[in-house]
Amino acid sequence: MSRINNDVAIAEGAYSWQLMMLAMAFISGIGSASVIFSANKILFLYGLIIGLLHLTFNVAFIKPLKNVSDKIQSKLSEVVQRFSDIISGAFVIRVFMIGEIIFKKFIQTNLAVYKLSLKRINYNSILAAYNYTAGRLIFFGQIVIGGYLVMKNKLTFGNLMISVNMMGSLLWLFGSVGQFLTNLQSSLAGAQRIFEVLDIDEKYLDDTKIEYISLPMVTEINQNSSSICIEFKEVSFSYSETKEVLNDITFTVPKCAKVAFVGKSGGGKSTIFKLIMGFYKPQKGEILIFGRPISCYTVKELRSLFAYVPQDCYLFNGNIYENIRYGKLNATEKEVIEAAKKANIHDFIMSLPEGYNTKVGDKGLTLSGGQRQRIAIARAILKDAPILLLDEPTSSLDSESELEVMKALNALIEGKTTLIIAHRLSAIKDADIIYLIEDGKVIEKGNHDELLRIKGKYANLYLKQFATKYYF
Ligand SMILES: Nc1ncnc2c1ncn2[C@@H]1O[C@H](COP(=O)(O)OP(=O)(O)OP(=O)(O)O)[C@@H](O)[C@H]1O
Ligand SMILES: [Mg+2]
Repeated sequence: MSRINNDVAIAEGAYSWQLMMLAMAFISGIGSASVIFSANKILFLYGLIIGLLHLTFNVAFIKPLKNVSDKIQSKLSEVVQRFSDIISGAFVIRVFMIGEIIFKKFIQTNLAVYKLSLKRINYNSILAAYNYTAGRLIFFGQIVIGGYLVMKNKLTFGNLMISVNMMGSLLWLFGSVGQFLTNLQSSLAGAQRIFEVLDIDEKYLDDTKIEYISLPMVTEINQNSSSICIEFKEVSFSYSETKEVLNDITFTVPKCAKVAFVGKSGGGKSTIFKLIMGFYKPQKGEILIFGRPISCYTVKELRSLFAYVPQDCYLFNGNIYENIRYGKLNATEKEVIEAAKKANIHDFIMSLPEGYNTKVGDKGLTLSGGQRQRIAIARAILKDAPILLLDEPTSSLDSESELEVMKALNALIEGKTTLIIAHRLSAIKDADIIYLIEDGKVIEKGNHDELLRIKGKYANLYLKQFATKYYF
C-alpha cells in the first residue's frame, strides 16, 4: 500500500516536473551564458567558476539527503502497516485490551518518521540558506569586478547591467542541476522500492508462452483414453529454505474421481492445491495434469481447468450478485440464481432487504463465515470447470447446512474430478481415494473402508471424531 501511495508519487516526480524544471534551467542558463560571454569574458569566467563551486556544494548534500529519504520511505510503509493492523485487528485489540501497546507502537513509528523528516528539513534548510547567501555574495562580487572594469573602461555600464541581469539565470542553471540531482535521489529511492516489488521472482507460468507447443492441447487430452487427471511425481517443495513442506510426494488423481486429502493441520494439504493451480513451482519433481506437465500450460489454460473454494473465502467489495458472477463473467441472471440455489444460499439472499444487490462490505465482513463460504461455493458452481478444488468447503457450516451443501456439491461433482480437503471426515467418507498426508508425504491411501480395515492413523482419526460426536 505504501509503495503504491507514497513511492509511486515520489518516483513520478522525476519525470513529471523535475525534468521539466531542468530543461527550463538549461535553456535559460545557456542563453544567459552566451549573452554574458559576448558582453565580457572575465564576467563570464567569474560566473562559470562560482557556478561550479555552487554545484559542488549542492552535490555534497546528495548522499545524506538520499539516506534520510530512504529511511523516511521505509518508515512510512511501516506506519501504513501498523495502521492497517489497528483497523483490521480492532476486535482482537479490544478483547485482549492491547490497544495501548499497539497504539504506542504506531506512535513510535510516526515519531521516527517525524524525526527523520526534521533531519531532512535541516539539510534542506542549510542548503537553501547557503544558496540564498551565495546568490547575494555572487551579486556583490559581480558589482565589484564589473565596477572595476567599467572604471578601467574595459566594460560599458550597459553591458554590466546586462550581465548582472543574466547572471541570475546562469546560477539558476547550476543550482537547478544540484537540486535536480538531490530530488532525483528521492525519486530513485522511491523507484528502487517499486522495482523491488516488480522484480520479485520471475513469473513461473506465462500468459502467452507454451513451451512444448508440440504437445496436444488440453481439450484433445481430455478426450483421450488416459484415465489420470492429476499426477504428482516425487514432488518436493518448500516456501523457504529452512523447512520442506512437501517431501518427495507421489500420488495420482483419476479422472472423474472424488479424491480426498486429510491429515494434521500444517501437513501441506493446501500447499498441494496451490501447486496444482500453478501459484508456486516445485523445487523437485513433476506435476502432470491430463498427462501434460504443468509448465506447458499457459496460465489461462491452466486456471480455466479449475473451480476453487478456498479455506478462507474471499469476497470482493461489491454486491452478492457480482461476487457469485465472478465465477463466470458472462453468466445470465438465471444462471447466477441457479448456482446460488444449488449452494443453498438463495433463500438467505432473498431474505435480505436488498436481495442479490446487498453489499458484502470490505472482504465480505458483513456476512457470517458460513454465508461467505456458500457464496464462494456458488461462484465455483457457476464456473463449471472440469476439476474442482475444495479446501474445507464446509468448515464454517453447521451439520445441517453441511449436509445440504454436500448434497449440492455432490450434484456438481457428478462427472467432474474433485479434490477435497476436509478435517471433518464425514464429508469425505464416500471419496474414491483418501490420501492421508503427514509431513508432506502420503502415509496412507485407500477408500474409507479400506483405511478403517488397516487400523492405521486414518482409522484412529475417524474413531476419535466419531467418539467426540457420540459424546456430545
Ligand atoms: N505462504 C507461505 N509461506 C511460508 N510458509 C507457508 C506458507 N503457506 C503455508 N506455509 C507453511 O507450509 C506448511 C503447510 O501448510 P498448508 O497450508 O499446506 O497446511 P495444511 O495441511 O493445509 O493445514 P490446515 O489443515 O491447517 O489447513 C505449514 O507449516 C505452513 O506454516
Ligand atoms: Mg489448509
